Amino acid sequence: MTGAPTAIGDRVTEVQKIWKMAYHLPETFPTDGSQWDHLFADGERFAVGAIEARALLSPGHTLCSMTYVIGDAAFVHDTVFMPDSGTARADFPGGDALEIWRSIQRILKLPDDTRLFAGHDYRPGGREARWESTVAEQKAHNLHLKDHDESSFVKFRNERDRSLPLPSLMLSALQVNIAGGRLPPQEEDRRRYLKIPLNAVPLVSSVRSSSAEAARTDDVGYQNTAAIRYGSIDLVNDSFGRQADECTEGLSPTVNRRRTSATGGYR
Ligand SMILES: [Fe+2]
Repeated sequence: MTGAPTAIGDRVTEVQKIWKMAYHLPETFPTDGSQWDHLFADGERFAVGAIEARALLSPGHTLCSMTYVIGDAAFVHDTVFMPDSGTARADFPGGDALEIWRSIQRILKLPDDTRLFAGHDYRPGGREARWESTVAEQKAHNLHLKDHDESSFVKFRNERDRSLPLPSLMLSALQVNIAGGRLPPQEEDRRRYLKIPLNAVPLVSSVRSSSAEAARTDDVGYQNTAAIRYGSIDLVNDSFGRQADECTEGLSPTVNRRRTSATGGYR
């Protein structure tokens, strides 16, 4: 840690609660966002030196995703990537395809020449890495947006997400992320350990960010309820400890479709 003040969107507290449960973290693990110096509310204005900035809630990839508009630049994290890579997946716990569509529309209402800085680049076709586009370029060329309206995008996104692998480092990284970048505390032997829930993969399709959606049966056949949403992330037994490729018998259709990937699987 550098000592510089840190900040994040204020809905991180909801994300902390979800993952505290998934990792079975001790009761003492705070889920009030106190690991950061400041929690941004949607629309909050701040300054980076002399440059005016604003925080915009842009959920969909996660519950608490934020876009930071700083001068003529917007740091859009996992919403749109480069136009030839499309958009971010919306199936992790708290993710939602309709929410990400609406968040992207909000970003695309920024002035056309706003420079957009993406959270990842996948170098499709082996091209050189790129990280910067504009609102106008996204409107004209984004692979996942240009031929869709809201409902067709949601259908497309949900179908695509069911085919994407679970990023293999996700469960390692998230327990550090939800602690504001801090490693877990030392144990009695003075070592720090990352936890991997061996027999629990978050059933990503069962956590929805809107209560309206929580009551519907989604298109993989799981009944979403408010209890599932916050009472328990629906954890599928016996699926992560063994690679899905080695172990597909007897698992749910959703788990059978999951594959781990060291290289991402984010779009
Ligand atoms: Fe992400």
